[in-house]
Amino acid sequence: MDVQIQKWKKEYGDIHTIWFGDQAIVTLHDIPTILETFVKDGETYAGRPRQKWDDIIREGNNGVVVSEGPKWRENRRFALHVFRNLGLGRNIMQERVLVEVTSFITDIKDEILNGKQKISIQDTIDISVGSIINNLTFGYRYGKDKKDEFQHVKQFATTLVSQFSNPIYRLMDRDPEYYKKFPICNSYYKYFSAEVQKMKDFFYNLIDEHRKAINLESNEDPTDFVEAYLRQQHKLKMEGGVKENENNFDDAQLYATVLDLWVAGQETTSNTLAWLCAYLIQYPEVQQNLHKELDEVIGNDRIITLDDKSDLNYVNAVIAETQRYCNLGPTNLFHR
Ligand code: HEM
Repeated sequence: MDVQIQKWKKEYGDIHTIWFGDQAIVTLHDIPTILETFVKDGETYAGRPRQKWDDIIREGNNGVVVSEGPKWRENRRFALHVFRNLGLGRNIMQERVLVEVTSFITDIKDEILNGKQKISIQDTIDISVGSIINNLTFGYRYGKDKKDEFQHVKQFATTLVSQFSNPIYRLMDRDPEYYKKFPICNSYYKYFSAEVQKMKDFFYNLIDEHRKAINLESNEDPTDFVEAYLRQQHKLKMEGGVKENENNFDDAQLYATVLDLWVAGQETTSNTLAWLCAYLIQYPEVQQNLHKELDEVIGNDRIITLDDKSDLNYVNAVIAETQRYCNLGPTNLFHR
């Protein structure tokens, strides 16, 4: 896709329109215009194009990825605040990442010791990244007893993402409730809404379990996102100022945000790390340089932490170059 986009840039210039079905997308290709638009004038372009399927998937203008307006703004600010707090003080964020790194290394070593000839690093990365996201949203990781749960959630996310490029999905996005009256569309609607319903039941159930496990009257600091959200809901209710139709912190918003964190965070991070491994196999001299820097700065008797970041120039450069080169999202998410 990126190669074709480069060709169009040469032919049509730095600002041109690409049609996605019947949707005209104005695309920007030069750094000054991109900065002018999304950084300097970010507020003007903060909206998202409306996808009708979101009425089913996210129960309307909910979540943080495709939502817009005051609800999005307030919830985005809240999510950033919660994650920042999890990263400060007790540094829960780093703690949970390091638990996963340790488990990742142990799992790979065990597989080698058990004589396994082929090891899928990507599968191990995949579950580790999913585990970190789940630990930060719901407060538990996908240990050995929870691997099936990971596969279950992963399958929801994969189904959801794979449908974006399905022509029937795209056609029906104009108005799923209208198109479902026609053959083929009708069976697609049944299939897709049943999949979404399974996903909703799963997440709503987890949220309910969490709600039951928390003492909302206590003033404890939350240790995961859903707990922070439920405490926020409780606080707003106690303050008494929440009207039903003006509530920006309702359960649908929480469900859609949890879904968004999963979909936006899992494959992006997991695939970037998998590309990093693939490049290190292709470029063994880079792997050697990395090893050398890690030996010199960290040694082999402790794990790396975020405090080491400023001393690891080569590691930082390799990560930055991987992100540039793997070009994970050849287009940005659409803005309005
Ligand atoms: C290598 C990893 C990642 C890449 C390449 C990536 C890329 C992106 C891109 C391109 C956008 C769209 C920005 C825009 O619309 O202007 C985005 C938005 C977003 N990402 Fe990521 N992301 C990554 C990891 C994550 C992780 C780990 C999470 C959370 C667990 C996350 C959560 C989000 C959310 C919530 C948004 C929507 C923000 C908003 O519209 O307010 N992402 N990401």
